[in-house]
Amino acid sequence: MVLRMAGIKTARTAELSEGDLLEITRLMEAAFGESFEGYWDDIGPALHFMALGTGEVLAHACVVDRELHTQGHQLRTGYVEGVAAWPHQQGRGHSTKVMQAVNEFLVENYQLGGLSTGVNGFYAKLGWETWKGRTYIRMRDGALARTAEEDGTVMILKTKSTPALNTKAPISAEWRPGELW
Ligand SMILES: CC(C)(COP(=O)(O)OP(=O)(O)OC[C@H]1O[C@@H](n2cnc3c(N)ncnc32)[C@H](O)[C@@H]1OP(=O)(O)O)[C@@H](O)C(=O)NCCC(=O)NCCS
Repeated sequence: MVLRMAGIKTARTAELSEGDLLEITRLMEAAFGESFEGYWDDIGPALHFMALGTGEVLAHACVVDRELHTQGHQLRTGYVEGVAAWPHQQGRGHSTKVMQAVNEFLVENYQLGGLSTGVNGFYAKLGWETWKGRTYIRMRDGALARTAEEDGTVMILKTKSTPALNTKAPISAEWRPGELW
């Protein structure tokens, strides 16, 4: 799969070599300062977006399929994960470039973009909106589990097919292992 955006490579997790996936994992561990062991299994198949330097990945983001429910809508959502740039490459616009390509992809291919972050300002500049309503996880038995600690971290990107939404309403995502949001 090739996007038109200059300098951005895309690949599905299954298409990446073990070495490439390890490089991305190391980049994320350096950026976040924590281990990402088991992460790729937890989030499932992803489409990766990478800003490339000469032979190395400078910044990364990926998109996984999720279903966010709100106000009676069951929204096919492109959920953004693993947004990171190597610490020594930060502040040079690499992640902005990656996220512009991600935005373009989400707008065309999903009913909604979603993510959870502690750096809302970075995404706000790129058109993302903070969800103000209560957040929940839909458990496998159908129960709704409240995730109050995640309130204010969830952001959405409206796409070509997003219905009218009130961002103060409750929102839920399906359960998954690891990070729930
Ligand atoms: C957040 C992060 C991905 C930004 O990557 P980057 O390549 O340095 O970003 P850019 O150079 O494209 O910066 C773009 C803009 O975002 C701003 N920005 C960067 N980090 C920010 C933050 N933490 N909060 C608010 N704005 C931020 C920059 O100031 C810059 O703004 P400007 O163009 O007006 O100067 C990077 O700092 C990182 O890897 N952080 C650690 C991991 C992380 O927190 N990831 C996101 C969490 S979901």
